[in-house]
Amino acid sequence: MTIEHTKIEQIKGEQKEQNPKKSDRILIFDTTLRDGEQSPGATMTLQEKLQIAELLDEMGVDIIEAGFPIASNGDFEAVSQIAKRSKNSVIAGLARAITGDIERAGEAVKHAKRGRIHTFVSTSPIHLAHQMKKTQEEVLEIIEKTVTQARNLIDDVEWSAMDATRTPLEYLARCTEAAIKAGATTINIPDTVGFSTPEDYYQLFVDLIEMVPDSDKVIFSTHCHNDLGLAVANSLAGVRGGARQVECTINGLGERAGNAALEEMVMSIRTRADVMPYHTGIETTHLAKISKVVSAAANFPVQYNKAIVGKNAFAHESGIHQDGMLKNAQTYEIMTPESVGIKSTSLVMGKHSGRHAFKEKLRGFGYDLGDNRFQEVFERFKSLADRKKNVYDEDIIALVDDEIGSAGDLIKLVDMEVVSKTSGEHRCDMVLDVEGETISVSTQGSGSVDAIFNAIKKGVKANPHLLLYGVDAVTGGTDAQANAHVRLEMDGRIASGRGAEPDTLVASAKAYLNAYNRLMVERGASAQGAMAKN
Ligand code: KIV
Ligand code: ZN
Repeated sequence: MTIEHTKIEQIKGEQKEQNPKKSDRILIFDTTLRDGEQSPGATMTLQEKLQIAELLDEMGVDIIEAGFPIASNGDFEAVSQIAKRSKNSVIAGLARAITGDIERAGEAVKHAKRGRIHTFVSTSPIHLAHQMKKTQEEVLEIIEKTVTQARNLIDDVEWSAMDATRTPLEYLARCTEAAIKAGATTINIPDTVGFSTPEDYYQLFVDLIEMVPDSDKVIFSTHCHNDLGLAVANSLAGVRGGARQVECTINGLGERAGNAALEEMVMSIRTRADVMPYHTGIETTHLAKISKVVSAAANFPVQYNKAIVGKNAFAHESGIHQDGMLKNAQTYEIMTPESVGIKSTSLVMGKHSGRHAFKEKLRGFGYDLGDNRFQEVFERFKSLADRKKNVYDEDIIALVDDEIGSAGDLIKLVDMEVVSKTSGEHRCDMVLDVEGETISVSTQGSGSVDAIFNAIKKGVKANPHLLLYGVDAVTGGTDAQANAHVRLEMDGRIASGRGAEPDTLVASAKAYLNAYNRLMVERGASAQGAMAKN
């Protein structure tokens, strides 16, 4: 075999040497930047993707699926930039079972220290009949041809059977055999529609590994969607059945109900080593930070009670629990907040804090801003400190994310005044900077937020459909900053935006404008279009 020094060799070596029951190494394949970005409205900028990839690499992710290079020039650029910068992780580019896709993916990952082409084709009867309009024999030929093409470009090739869990076992085994013969080094068995159960998924791996010749020469992988809330349980069952790679995303981001959440997979394996004798290479203290970075970049708030990284994941409310915690944290905590990188909220700085200390603080959070951006953020921090008694770490992170997230916006809020009443129409007077031109508008609405959104629509002369609007407080207290989220749809494109400000209404206006600005940027729509063609 020509694959030298790859992860696969290392893992197989480790497995041979060690008692597999005691210490099986599980490869973590992160697809936040590909499947995660396919969440409606979760498109990220190149800078955001580079930042996330760097963090994933640093925290020990084995394989980063950086995008779908054929989908758009933006995706291609992101995958190739990430490939060039990667230090340890294998960088994968997705490709349909189409010659052009595979060439483009190969081109995008070729500068990685270790690159991978990940090619997939549907195998289930329902996909073959309605989407692909191909026979089983034709798909087998496609697998042989496309995996061979990929293997001629690169040594590390992953093949995925899309909708594998609704594919008859015998046919899936024939497809897997064809992919291995053609040179695939990783075989992924996705539960594309989140239909499987842990028992079914476990048995599927056991059967496939037993039935398919040379199955011991490749790594089997799980890829579970969360439509029934079983993605993590199914992935762990797949591991028990013999899979040694799990595909997952930060915060469980992904198509529809999302993918298996990386942080849940990793912490389950770590916390329940007694019943799951596996280990990963993830530095778990990075989990809280990357969760925040992904949430901000994708404009996807993390639900409060989300396992591992939700705001409430380590909060203890009831008297009995608090009493137990004070006596011994282990009474109600199965893992420590520190083990996932959560620090207790700390009061950081006030209006007298200097620029040097502030810069150091930002560095500690992983932000390295250029001089101009730093100056803008520092001024916003000073103004926040003037208005807010206590400025916490979370306030600063929200402020910087807001500044970074809206950096490329061509339409900006200059000023606004809102009149709220207990009855009758609410009014909003707004001044916008639309690509350098100042525009003033006055509108009414059934509520303050309605009036604000109407003002923006009037100012930009467009009428996007509002899919989602929400506000949460960054910290406690009535002077807390508001974090507003907006998701808009227009002409088949979806984009999300966020705004953080001490005033809820200003935050809402900024979130709407941020989403509208992102709608205007040509990205994401083509990626989703390309997926739809498969
Ligand atoms: O869910 C799925 O089947 C996928 C494939 C492209 C691997 O995301
Ligand atoms: Zn998927």
